[in-house]
Amino acid sequence: MSLRIRLAILSSFITLLALIGLSVITGVFLQRSLIRDLDEELEVQAGQILDEAKDEAKLGKSIQISNDLENALVTATGSTTAFLYVQGKLEFGAGQYDAPNEPLDSSFLSQNQNLKRCDCDDWRVISLRSNDLAVQVGRPLSIITRNMERYVSIVAVVSLAATVLAGLLIAFVVSRTVQPLEKLAQRVKNLESGELIPGVGLPDEIGVLARALEQSLSQLQVSRARQNRFVADAAHELRTPVTALLADLETHRARPRQESENQAVLERFFRNAQHLRRLINNLLTLSQTERDLQLQPLNLTELASEVTDRLMPLAASKNLELSIDGEPAKLLGDRLMLERALENILGNALKFTNSGEVRVLVKTQSQKVILIVTDTGIGMNNGDLELVFEAFHRGDSIVEGSGLGLAVVKAVVQAHHGQVKMTSEVNVGTVVRLEFPIRINA
Ligand SMILES: Nc1ncnc2c1ncn2[C@@H]1O[C@H](COP(=O)(O)OP(=O)(O)OP(=O)(O)O)[C@@H](O)[C@H]1O
Ligand SMILES: [Mg+2]
Repeated sequence: MSLRIRLAILSSFITLLALIGLSVITGVFLQRSLIRDLDEELEVQAGQILDEAKDEAKLGKSIQISNDLENALVTATGSTTAFLYVQGKLEFGAGQYDAPNEPLDSSFLSQNQNLKRCDCDDWRVISLRSNDLAVQVGRPLSIITRNMERYVSIVAVVSLAATVLAGLLIAFVVSRTVQPLEKLAQRVKNLESGELIPGVGLPDEIGVLARALEQSLSQLQVSRARQNRFVADAAHELRTPVTALLADLETHRARPRQESENQAVLERFFRNAQHLRRLINNLLTLSQTERDLQLQPLNLTELASEVTDRLMPLAASKNLELSIDGEPAKLLGDRLMLERALENILGNALKFTNSGEVRVLVKTQSQKVILIVTDTGIGMNNGDLELVFEAFHRGDSIVEGSGLGLAVVKAVVQAHHGQVKMTSEVNVGTVVRLEFPIRINA
């Protein structure tokens, strides 16, 4: 059963209960007030009869009730039955009554009360006494019962209508309220197809929730698209060296080769395998920066020296001067990841420099650990500078690579709450600057 139907039934039920409660209370008050009005009218009439009887008794006349007074017993609200007793004997009677000789309230005549109100045999009776004179007036309670029945039937119709109306109203309001959520649900279903649902604009809590969900969904869509692109690019990059390896293996298997040819093929195998390993390492590092870092106190200058030492043979093979300078710079970091970042920065500097030097400087300044790598290489233009940290972006580079190195550098530095900046000038060189905030200093 849908939410709107459940809420509509619930609200109808509550409305009905409330209306029944209210009607019962109002009914009780209404009945009391009708009886009170009747009592007042009867008391006035009884008083008038008693006064007239007393006047006539005073004059010593035989007691006669005037026609005017008798006629006044019939009013717009009903006709009153009245009896006058002198010393317990019926002297005068008027109006309708099943047993005219029976008093309306026989117990009153044997009692010593001056005023009595009672419900006797479905009649409302008022009895008044003054010395020997006693008056009883009454009307059937069926008049009030009829009025109450009319009240109940009106209230029942109104309550039923109000209940149905409340249910419909709540169903309408809930429909409108959950509409944005339904749109969102539809959008979640259509996430695969990338179909966008127009924004949701309600100002209430549901609107806030809907907007927050919509925002998250948009972000999810963007990151899914980015992830898909990343996987496609990664697969493409992996395929190239693997295809080259397989092609070499195929031709090598097809026909025997000279020793010198074998050497060349092995060289290619080796280069392709190295490229694959670098690519896989970078992909691994990128995926690991999403998880927790293995933090430990370390000296960034020492770490940079180790990486520099490892790359010395490459620098020498290109006739480049590679140097490192700096003071001890303590840092709390993930050793393996920082090593991968440094390898990529220095690897780039050596790869894209054909003559001159590559210098590494580590220092502590303004409560930051700073590492600067400067090269005298081919440099790059501003357009490329903006995009080089994107995964698989390689600019115009024709040198071997996948475009993952700087994406790894950025991810590692950010995971350490640091910053990476790059400046470059074509044919002059490039400067990469890493900054780590003091809060991760060891
Ligand atoms: N020191 C540098 N001098 C000049 N260009 C650079 C330098 N460092 C990076 N680049 C440019 O930025 C691009 C991206 O660098 P990145 O390290 O991400 O990828 P790559 O070196 O091409 O491949 P990979 O590092 O995955 O083997 C490079 O292709 C190159 O065009
Ligand atoms: Mg690189």
